[in-house]
Amino acid sequence: MGQFDELQTIGVVGAGQMGVGIAQVCAAAGLAVTLSDVSREQARAGLDRMKARLDGQVERGKVAAADRDALLERIQVVDLAGHGAAQLVIEAATEREELKLELFRQLDASTPPETLLASNTSSISITRIAAATRRADRVGGLHFMNPVPVMQLVEVVRGLQTSSETLAQLTALAHRVGKQTVASEDRPGFIINRVLIPFLNEACLALSEGVASVADIDAGIRLGLNHPLGPLALADLIGLDTVLAIGEVLHRDFGDSKYRPAPLLRNLVAAGWLGRKTGKGFYVYGPKGELGEPNPLLRGDPSLGAAAGEGRERS
Ligand SMILES: NC(=O)c1ccc[n+]([C@@H]2O[C@H](COP(=O)([O-])OP(=O)(O)OC[C@H]3O[C@@H](n4cnc5c(N)ncnc54)[C@H](O)[C@@H]3O)[C@@H](O)[C@H]2O)c1
Repeated sequence: MGQFDELQTIGVVGAGQMGVGIAQVCAAAGLAVTLSDVSREQARAGLDRMKARLDGQVERGKVAAADRDALLERIQVVDLAGHGAAQLVIEAATEREELKLELFRQLDASTPPETLLASNTSSISITRIAAATRRADRVGGLHFMNPVPVMQLVEVVRGLQTSSETLAQLTALAHRVGKQTVASEDRPGFIINRVLIPFLNEACLALSEGVASVADIDAGIRLGLNHPLGPLALADLIGLDTVLAIGEVLHRDFGDSKYRPAPLLRNLVAAGWLGRKTGKGFYVYGPKGELGEPNPLLRGDPSLGAAAGEGRERS
């Protein structure tokens, strides 16, 4: 299949919840993985979180100890300049355009010209990211879903310059790691987040207006629409900083006020309450990230209407 018969070596940049999940599914499929973050310590911390999850699965008899060990042996922590042996590097760093453009400039300089580059961005233009490199035809979007080991879908995004060969390689890789794919053209939010983020934002606006409590908004959507998670719990799982960043891209790049992020979402991010990953967001989380009660402090937010919260949450 063109440049590479079949990809064998994958680099992952960013060892947060998505990068670590991507590294895990690639290693589980037998691929050799290099993993980096802002520092080796940060990348090792991500790897430790993966190991702790795998240990739990071994204890519950879901994964064989030998498979866990073999999987972990396939992952090597490196610096950003250490992805030279990877045939494809997947970037999964924080959702900020300037940061991603700089990472792609650096990857373009530090990897051989035939190396494929992909971004796991939720919303940022793949065309703009590709234009930061001298191999724009070898750059595309590989948008995994969260949590990566569990979710079936990868959205494959074609930038204006992405070659058909690159798209085929990226799609084949997603299938190789056991995922199903959908193809999207390069528009803000692609398919999934163009639909999802306005939905999550609307739930946040409804909460702010005092339409209903956190618990009732989420229970309404779970039971009424048969969603596995309510929108506020889902926003917490994604990370409220990421939800806000995607909302800002949709708002800016479509230039349409219907995408404006809810002020309450901005306040939660400003408070450092980013959801599950920081232990507090719309809900409060246990030490292992277990979903707890709705955040009682939200009632004190003046942007919330009088009817929000106040004794109406149900467990
Ligand atoms: N959270 C989700 O549900 C979800 C789903 C699909 C896609 N995404 C996308 O995946 C990407 C990562 O999201 P996440 O949820 O893993 O975020 P996260 O906050 O869990 O992790 C981001 C990681 O990027 C690292 N990072 C920051 N700057 C870096 C740099 N210059 N070089 C290397 N690493 C750097 C951070 O240290 C952190 O470990 C974003 O683009 C996001 O939009 C997120």
